[in-house]
Amino acid sequence: MLDRLQAQSPDALLALIKLYAADPRPDKVDLGVGVYRTGQGDTPVFAAIKAAERKLVDEQDSKAYLGPEGDMGFVEALMPYIFGAEDPSMGGRVQGMQTPGGTGAVRLAVALARAAGIRRVFMGTPSWPNHAQILADLPLDMVAFDHDNDDGTANVDAVLAAIANAQEGDAILLHGCCHNPTGIDYTPEQWDAIAAALATSKALPIIDVAYQGLGHGMEEDAYGLRKVLASVPEALIAYSCDKNFGLYRDRVGAFYVMAKEPGQLDAIMSNAASLARANWSMPPDHGGAAVRLILTDPALTTMWLDELDTMRARMRQVRDRLAAAGTAGAVDMTPLGIQNGLFSMLPLSKEQIATLRSEHAIYMAGSGRINVAGLTSGNIDKFIDAVAAVSA
Ligand code: LMR
Repeated sequence: MLDRLQAQSPDALLALIKLYAADPRPDKVDLGVGVYRTGQGDTPVFAAIKAAERKLVDEQDSKAYLGPEGDMGFVEALMPYIFGAEDPSMGGRVQGMQTPGGTGAVRLAVALARAAGIRRVFMGTPSWPNHAQILADLPLDMVAFDHDNDDGTANVDAVLAAIANAQEGDAILLHGCCHNPTGIDYTPEQWDAIAAALATSKALPIIDVAYQGLGHGMEEDAYGLRKVLASVPEALIAYSCDKNFGLYRDRVGAFYVMAKEPGQLDAIMSNAASLARANWSMPPDHGGAAVRLILTDPALTTMWLDELDTMRARMRQVRDRLAAAGTAGAVDMTPLGIQNGLFSMLPLSKEQIATLRSEHAIYMAGSGRINVAGLTSGNIDKFIDAVAAVSA
């Protein structure tokens, strides 16, 4: 029976992790998978997480099951950051549950949308490759529109046209901030226009917030999400703590529903709980518990926010340096200066990307995406020169 299965190629992005590790060249540069790196090229555990983990070891007195919703203290402690400190539950209309990473949250959001009758999902492309993969696996039809323009800005006309075309039974999947893979976010004015269009549309917004705090700040990065939520009757939100708490392999995420009425939440969340039960039963506890300890301790919260500020400032420095380089061969680096978060796309061919790897030991996704946090003062000149050499 099992011999009927056709071999699948490994996930191209995750395969890069192993290829890079196996490369013996000492000056190799990893611009592949999305993890933050310091100026020394390391991805350390946040000091705030270390402190919370020590507290957890001392204070946690049981590892008995919590239920499909996971650690509700964690889920609720995040809400002021996501939905605003003034009214984190938006008048009692928002409720959430913990998920295994942002991927689990996206999976739950689209599976719940499907259970509610959604059949098509509009999505700007390029997007994080796993978005399309999850939609295909459910399955849900995907309707693509252009996320960006050639000049490195967002194509707001395309998203507005998609919203205008959406019918009953359609959803639209939007990146809340730090768009993956382009780094191209809608401006506040563009979010205003998107929110106004969604207010009169039949499309259900599904917003993926995987990089809050890595763009302009925790509050600033929530602008688009909050604007949309203030304009529409209902929405689904997928959230990841994997990057902004550096918890990648611990898989820390949350899924939230904003319902039309508080009274609808019990029924909606009972569906989410049953989908979670069938998929992973209960989320892993450790990382979520550490985040809860940080967010419920003012000193640890300050420590975490300071570490996040340092990350953001370093990525901004790298972006400024790339933008200041102007062009590298045929590649215009200037748009990278106004883009956000870990990622940007370079207009390089598959052959040029392969040459960067084989001749310059520079590893990046086959799509042309680079992780700017992989660049340091020690390798950024080499990178610019190599891009110039392959694209000249
Ligand atoms: C990335 O895009 O590099 C990260 O979100 C990691 C992943 O799961 O793909």
